[in-house]
Amino acid sequence: MLIRRCAVLFLEPREDLDIDWSALFAGDGPLGATMRWMALAPHLGEEVEVSPDEVAALGGIGLTLWQESADCAQQYGAAVIARLLECGLLIGDDARFRERDETLRSQNWRPLSAAAHMFSRWGDMRVDKGMQFPSFEELVVSYGTPPGPVIERCAEGEAIALPYPDRARLDDTLFQRYTGRNFDAAAALPIATVARLLQRAFGSQGEREMAPDAFVLKKLSPSAGGLHPVEAYVLAQRVEGIAPGLYHYHPVRHALEPLTAMDTAQTAELALRMVADQDWFVDAPMMVVLAARVERNFWKYRNHAKAYRALLLDAGHLSQTFYLLATEAGMPAFVTAAVNEIDIERVLGLDPLKDMVIAVCGCGPASGARDTVELRYEP
Ligand SMILES: Cc1cc2nc3c(=O)[nH]c(=O)nc-3n(C[C@H](O)[C@H](O)[C@H](O)COP(=O)(O)O)c2cc1C
Repeated sequence: MLIRRCAVLFLEPREDLDIDWSALFAGDGPLGATMRWMALAPHLGEEVEVSPDEVAALGGIGLTLWQESADCAQQYGAAVIARLLECGLLIGDDARFRERDETLRSQNWRPLSAAAHMFSRWGDMRVDKGMQFPSFEELVVSYGTPPGPVIERCAEGEAIALPYPDRARLDDTLFQRYTGRNFDAAAALPIATVARLLQRAFGSQGEREMAPDAFVLKKLSPSAGGLHPVEAYVLAQRVEGIAPGLYHYHPVRHALEPLTAMDTAQTAELALRMVADQDWFVDAPMMVVLAARVERNFWKYRNHAKAYRALLLDAGHLSQTFYLLATEAGMPAFVTAAVNEIDIERVLGLDPLKDMVIAVCGCGPASGARDTVELRYEP
């Protein structure tokens, strides 16, 4: 059998602390520490502990040329090679690992970015599993006061004072924008409001052929290389004329493509799961998952040091445009990166090596309550 190493692999010497609580409370040097090797291979999506012998084999077997497994077994030991094939760090005949490795290779990921993405996803993260929402007061108790909100790079007298801006057209929207955390659980969004929001935030305002058969869309937010790889998936809870469920927004047809029909109990349960138990967002009648098709960006930015950053920035721009459109329609909006990517991938049928769930936004009328903190501009 021919084998080679998986395309992307990082080895982390991980320290585990053995905490002896009684010694700790007695004020003694409290800790023992043990070290182990963790293999971080993005195509697997989960960490694998490896032995020093396995580390040596992984360091010796390349990712490009196929080698006879018998030769590798002779050099590194048959048990070592068998284990590495079994856990998918070496690629051999196992079709499942081969497919995952090929998929990763075909996307043109920067190796560090692939690892950062695949190992920062959450699945089933909930309050009872460690998701915490500490208040500012609690944070200050734990960590002391935060670094100050401003910095000074010269003495005040040396700074050039600027004229304060006059009010202008955009101000009404900018000053009213805030992150809503008290949505009206009974309100439904008119279809016209949703249609404008989706079209202006995520829709195409025109198509341009930059080279034969190479098209870009013009949108109202900037995008790295003009490629607009971020797709919008809509969770409709209460949108007039639209059945509750999951949809993909088609930016050119300006249409919702139905993916999964749900009842309102199911949409509420999914909404809560998507935002990792942040219950203050769940009453928003519409949420939008932002998920980048990485191959669209990586088509140009192949194995590129800045590509991953560009995808995050693209999503940030879209979310701000979404906020401003919601504000214009008289509603608060939200964006959150504290999302259960793995659950979202599952319901949307996305492969995380190809489709990168970045954030969830949403909007809806405010309830008028102030149960959860909001930062509104107060003149
Ligand atoms: C990248 C990003 C992630 C955020 N994640 C959360 C979140 O997980 N939960 C939340 O309640 N708000 C979240 N927010 C909203 C911020 O808390 C909010 O923007 C900030 O408190 C300032 O308030 P404002 O948007 O009303 O001006 C996030 C905002 C951004 C830009």
